[in-house]
Amino acid sequence: MTNPTPAYVEGATVLLQERLTDDVYRLTVAATTGGGPGQFYMVHAWDREPLLARPISIHSVDEDTVSFLYQVRGRGTELLARLDEGGEVTLTGPLGHGFYTEELHGRVAIVTGGIGIAPVFCLASTLPPGDVTVIAGFKSTPYAVAELLTLGVDVQVATEDGCEGTRGFCTAIFDPTAFDTVVTCGPIPMMARVAQLCAEAVVPCQASLEAHMACGVGACLGCSFPTVSGNKRVCADGPVFDAAEVIWHA
Ligand SMILES: Cc1cc2nc3c(=O)[nH]c(=O)nc-3n(C[C@H](O)[C@H](O)[C@H](O)COP(=O)(O)OP(=O)(O)OC[C@H]3O[C@@H](n4cnc5c(N)ncnc54)[C@H](O)[C@@H]3O)c2cc1C
Ligand code: FES
Repeated sequence: MTNPTPAYVEGATVLLQERLTDDVYRLTVAATTGGGPGQFYMVHAWDREPLLARPISIHSVDEDTVSFLYQVRGRGTELLARLDEGGEVTLTGPLGHGFYTEELHGRVAIVTGGIGIAPVFCLASTLPPGDVTVIAGFKSTPYAVAELLTLGVDVQVATEDGCEGTRGFCTAIFDPTAFDTVVTCGPIPMMARVAQLCAEAVVPCQASLEAHMACGVGACLGCSFPTVSGNKRVCADGPVFDAAEVIWHA
């Protein structure tokens, strides 16, 4: 899913800011720029510091709105969380190659860790519900699961502290042989494990990579990541890659 001419939206208005857990929020803004599953926007909502916009995936999208699911990690996301209804954000996007949905066939597993669940609602909305299983791992209290259930997809949860679902990592409840295609999004060690399991089972896997970004449009090379065919830019060549192409332990 490519967008060669990203739109630039100044001053998209905040319609809704929802706090889902201690540090996870959903922000919905008025924007008509759309986008597909796995694409992202560079989001900026502060005056001077931090200098750079922050990449955030499309969580859900329609003709008039875009929603982001985000976790407060540092200064940028902390400032995002302070926005109220009627506040203003600047968006550049949609950016990047999203998930290759045309290659997702048969029984599809979407394996996520933590805030890696952010793009899943947008992705699952485009797939036949009966064929999709989301296997979602969290450190503790899960979030953004109820809305997936409204789509009719199967959701299996693992939590590290055992507060819900199976105790442990989501990779422990993921059996790639039960699926025809796999998508993964989350921390690099988790995705590396999913990629390894899929490689052993000879099941194709798409991974959405995370990297620190500066420009977000392929110009600075700040987000380069090693693959079997050389370094690739997460922002412009990805963020979604064939997991078998990625050199996970470089
Ligand atoms: C394509 C893409 C899509 C993303 N989508 C989402 C999303 O939907 N929701 C969401 O919550 N986050 C998402 N992220 C991650 C998000 O961009 C970062 O968490 C955010 O930039 C942190 O900014 P900050 O100013 O709050 O924290 P900073 O002060 O910049 O960083 C705080 C801490 O987090 C670490 N960190 C920051 N960015 C990253 C990163 N990209 N990877 C690993 N560690 C990092 C830093 O090393 C530091 O320790 C995405 C990243 C990419 C590349
Ligand atoms: S962030 Fe500049 S090339 Fe990717």
